[in-house]
Amino acid sequence: MDPFVIVIFGASGDLTQRKLIPAIFQLYKTGYLPDNFAVLGISRTEFSDEDFRQSLFFDNKYVKKENADETSLTDFSSRLYYESIQTNEAADYGKVKARLQELDEQRQTGGNYLFYLSVPPFLYEKIPGYLAEHGLNEDADSWRRLIIEKPFGHDEDSARALNNRLCQFFEETQIFRIDHYLGKETVQNLLVTRFANGIFEPIWNRHYIDHIQITSAEDIGVEKRGGYYDDSGALRDMVQNHLLQVMAHIAMEPPTNADAKSIRNEKVKFFDSIRPIREKEVNKYVVRGQYIQSTVEGKSVPAYRQEEGIPEDSKTETYVALKAFVDNWRWADVPFYIRTGKRLPTKVTEVAVMFKSPPHHLFREEKGVRNEVNKLIIRIQPDEGLALQFGMKVPGAGFKVKDVYMDFHYSDLTNAYVPEAYERLIMDCLKGDATLYARGDAVEAAWRFVDPIVHAWKKDGHIKLHGYPAGSWGPSAAAALFEHPGVSWHNPCAELTPEEEFREL
Ligand code: BG6
Repeated sequence: MDPFVIVIFGASGDLTQRKLIPAIFQLYKTGYLPDNFAVLGISRTEFSDEDFRQSLFFDNKYVKKENADETSLTDFSSRLYYESIQTNEAADYGKVKARLQELDEQRQTGGNYLFYLSVPPFLYEKIPGYLAEHGLNEDADSWRRLIIEKPFGHDEDSARALNNRLCQFFEETQIFRIDHYLGKETVQNLLVTRFANGIFEPIWNRHYIDHIQITSAEDIGVEKRGGYYDDSGALRDMVQNHLLQVMAHIAMEPPTNADAKSIRNEKVKFFDSIRPIREKEVNKYVVRGQYIQSTVEGKSVPAYRQEEGIPEDSKTETYVALKAFVDNWRWADVPFYIRTGKRLPTKVTEVAVMFKSPPHHLFREEKGVRNEVNKLIIRIQPDEGLALQFGMKVPGAGFKVKDVYMDFHYSDLTNAYVPEAYERLIMDCLKGDATLYARGDAVEAAWRFVDPIVHAWKKDGHIKLHGYPAGSWGPSAAAALFEHPGVSWHNPCAELTPEEEFREL
């Protein structure tokens, strides 16, 4: 790998502390980084290099320092530097340039810079321009790359405007739009499961699959992020980016190659084939909810409207469930159900592929017969793995059928270290590999799907916002999205394959 400097804008922020410094240290510890590299933190807070090292590295509880010897702790921390600037002042970028030149000399970093923008979104439009004014975008003898955090725009128009703006200063090949779900091993494994095996693809279509459910639940509330979240809501916070990406991995056509261009071309083709939900159909296809006060495990949990920074009359959704269709030969008429929410019973993300029942119900007469549906559960987190549910005969008289699982848990791979999403993504960017980053046209296409829903909610006061008790699985109205009686949400629990009698929530 080439030598480099990672320049983090927003260095005193939460993401730098929770994800970025821990990920870079982990990459260092695992031996993935070259001898010559440095990290330059930038933000408005007045810090010395020493303060930065202390607070973001030594005192940072998210950095896994166990198994690291003193020498590597000291060596890594000595590579962390800090520069305080007014991020909104063009002139201050001269200081950044001077500091980078200094580091190039001191650390032999060869002028390769990765600018990581972890700042409020209005700065996404400005910082690239300021960097360009000082020639810090020039990708000639050395490379210059830009990582942009979410949210990438707040609708299709703003995403396009941002893309255009960035492209004035940086080439598309230099721009890396991060979606941390793409860095999750298990999300990448969706592609491997589908395309490295011969057994799934033949049945991966409308002839064998009844419907697909994607659930991403969180048990936490909005925590300290009220200001951001109330403007965003669950649809824009989770569906527009993470869950549509998961859906693309589940449903896109096989790419011709496993490279960035082929995979990202297929994704855009897939996003273009998701049937738009028109504003007047929103009531039929989408259910929104907001958590209300409740008691969870004996503790009172406040309503969303009582959380810090949330207006008392907020209509922001903390839960959304929707039914989508994909208009292509593979998926015609197969519903995709997507839901996500805060303050649900547990933290879990999974995909459930529900197969069609056998054409002839041979064992229907038997007591205790199951619904005769095979499920493939692909668990993104936690207890990452894969489970296929199918019916087996209960020993004894008659033909009583019981559901059993054939399962694989990542944790069984004892030697495998599963990297954090940010580790993988930062490393890919350092190598110049954009496969796991969202391309500009894909981000715009994802907004195109989401925009009419947001508009309808804004315009039409009659569209219900359902209250749901914190700690529940969301509004019961979401069950009405299903088309057939008896078919509803598969509610996952903490374990991939729970015992029927015991489900840990
Ligand atoms: C973020 C959202 O992008 O993803 C958060 O802004 C959410 O609201 C988080 O909590 C979930 O990520 P993960 O990796 O914990 O599932």
